[in-house]
Parts: sequence; C-alpha cells; structure tokens
Amino acid sequence: MNGALSVTEHADLRELNTLAIAARARYLIRIAGVDDLTAALAWAEARELDTLVLGGGSNLVFAGDFDGAVLHIQIRGRHWEKVNGDDAVLVLGAGENWHEAVLYAARSGYRGIENLALIPGTAGAAPVQNIGAYGVELGDTLVSVTALDRVTRGVVTLAAGDCQLGYRDSLFKRQPGRYIILELRLKLSRSLPLKLDYRDLQDYLGDTDVNALTPLEVAEAVMAVRHRKLPDPAVLPNAGSFFKNPVINQVAFERLQERFPGVVFYPVEQGVKLAAAWLIDQAGWKGFRNTRVGIHNRQALVLINHSGGSGAEVLALADEVRRSVQETFGVELEMEPGVVGAR
Ligand code: EPU
Repeated sequence: MNGALSVTEHADLRELNTLAIAARARYLIRIAGVDDLTAALAWAEARELDTLVLGGGSNLVFAGDFDGAVLHIQIRGRHWEKVNGDDAVLVLGAGENWHEAVLYAARSGYRGIENLALIPGTAGAAPVQNIGAYGVELGDTLVSVTALDRVTRGVVTLAAGDCQLGYRDSLFKRQPGRYIILELRLKLSRSLPLKLDYRDLQDYLGDTDVNALTPLEVAEAVMAVRHRKLPDPAVLPNAGSFFKNPVINQVAFERLQERFPGVVFYPVEQGVKLAAAWLIDQAGWKGFRNTRVGIHNRQALVLINHSGGSGAEVLALADEVRRSVQETFGVELEMEPGVVGAR
C-alpha cells in the first residue's frame, strides 16, 4: 500500500488478461475513481515509470513483463440519466463489466446494445476498439465518453462524433495513451427496432416471431450463438478475434474472387471487407494446435492459449498465420489486440 493508493509490487497478471499469459507488472495500481487515477499518474511520473491502462484484459497480448505501473481501472457505477419517453441515457463507469451492463439494459427493457452480449471486457474498453457484433457497433448508441486527457491534464467529455469511431477503430486507438476513459453514455430506447439480420442470428431464431422478441431474448439468442462458436476465455483462454477483417479495393477483390470463388466478403464503403476467418480456415489453420497455443476449432479467427503459453508463443503463431494467409491469398492481416510488455 502507498498512502491512499493500492499498489502491488511484482504483480502476476495471469488472471488479469483473458489469454492467461503469465506476465508480471512491476507495479499494479487499483484505480477506483478519478482521484486514484490522478494520484497514480503523479506517483508513476515521480518514479519515471511507464504506465499501462488495463480494463478487462480481453484485447491485449503481454509479450513479456511490464516494467512500469499498470493502472487497473475498476471505476464502478451505472445509472440512468435523462429518461425521456421511450429514450434513456445509460451512464457506465469505465470499470463496469460490459456484458453485465448489456444484461442490465436489456432486463430494463431498453434496446440498442443487446447484440453486444457476452463480449468480454469492461465498458471503458468498449469505445477503444468500437466493439461490434451481429450487425451492431458501440458507435450506434454512444453519446459521449468522459476521459482524463493526459495532454491537458483535465477531464474532458468527447461527443461520439469526436471519437473517430470506425471498424474496430477510434481516436483512443489512434492516440494511444492520451485519454484514459472514466465513463461513457449510451442512448438506448424502448422502441428502437431490433437488429436481427445477421445470418447466424437469423439461423438461430428460425421461425420465431421476431416482432414479439424482447431485448433480453435477443441478448440470450446472441449468447447462444456465441457459445456455439466462440470459446469461453475462462475455459480456453483467448482474446476474441485475433485479426481484423481486412478491407481490400474492388480491383484486388475481383482478382482474388477469380482465383477463389468461395471467398466470403461484404461490400463496404472503402472497397470489400473479407472474412479473415474464412482466409485462415482455407489456409488450413482451423483447429491447429502446437504444444501450448493454437487456433480455435470452431472459429478460425480466435487464437487459444491452451496450456500456459507465453505471449511470444502466441505472437509467433499469429505471425505464421499472417505469413500463410499472405502467401496463399496475397492479403495482409492486421492484428486486433494490442501488444504490450517487453518482447
Ligand atoms: N468462417 C469460416 N471459418 C471459420 C469461421 C467463419 O470460413 O472458422 C466464415 C463463414 O463463412 C462466416 C464468415 O467467415 O460466415 C464470418 O464469420 P463470423 O460470422 O463468425 O464473423 P467474423 O467476421 O469472423 C466478426 C467479429 C466478431 C463478431 C462476429 C459476429 C471481427 C474481427 N470479428 O467475426 O467479433 O463476434 O463478427 O458479428 O470483426 C471480436 O472482435 O473479438 C469478435 C469476436
């Protein structure tokens, strides 16, 4: 302990990252609110330590130990603000568990984030990569993000339109380290149309009368679909999709489709988005396993740490997969999770 700050030295991070990589932090500091955060930043600065902001640890790979101060964000709190007819704004502390927040909103009858059920991680991490699943992205409901700006050292509220949200992308990813998210606001509604057009969801719902569905039932359908394909990190440690779905231009796509007529794709504004899972699967990686790390046997986009693999092993496998997809299809895959710690 250090004054009011909770500081642990040489902390084991295995339980704090969903890939269960056994890295260590020189210091681990619990952050329960903005006061802890400013105190921890001053504490780290006085010791000339690097800092790392950690939420649920579901979108990062520890390549090695972190020789600095890990700020473990545990800022709690959720409440409704501006309830107005069918609409309401849900305010979430950055350390709230995302999935619990989804269930809370859905149980209250509010729609907007039910398709994002079971995404691991914290609310504060959600805007960083603009989490998305089953046809919905966080950006569809995000009103604003309140954060500590490490450049101006003030607390700022950024409107969603200023967060540069894109596919698995945001201002927070583009200017890493600048903003530390404290709170977010989501605009939900009791009457918003449900989004049920994603194929896996339609297949699951079959003949169900979709007009009679509640947001909680949709969340439950999403959970069932995810359980079928995506591994539970508590059982098979993983960081969700390990690569983004790559976007290529129309000309390159037509050439690719000539050679591989089965290629799975979605037209997007900037060209054509390819299903990275299909590319990895076709390149023969699905279900691959070396001694400690491997590729999930039901979703080729997910790397698994089967038994105590290191970050280096996970990254070596990711490199092999990338090389192989590049050689087979001429397509570059970009990693989704961030890499931290000494390599
Ligand atoms: N496919 C294969 N082999 C596989 C898996 C999928 O060929 O092993 C093909 C199928 O044709 C399938 C297509 O790839 O139709 C797309 O697969 P899926 O519907 O599972 O979606 P995805 O594009 O692989 C994305 C997100 C997921 C999200 C799902 C559902 C990214 C990087 N991933 O996966 O997000 O849950 O859509 O919306 O955009 C995450 O970000 O961690 C994540 C899990």
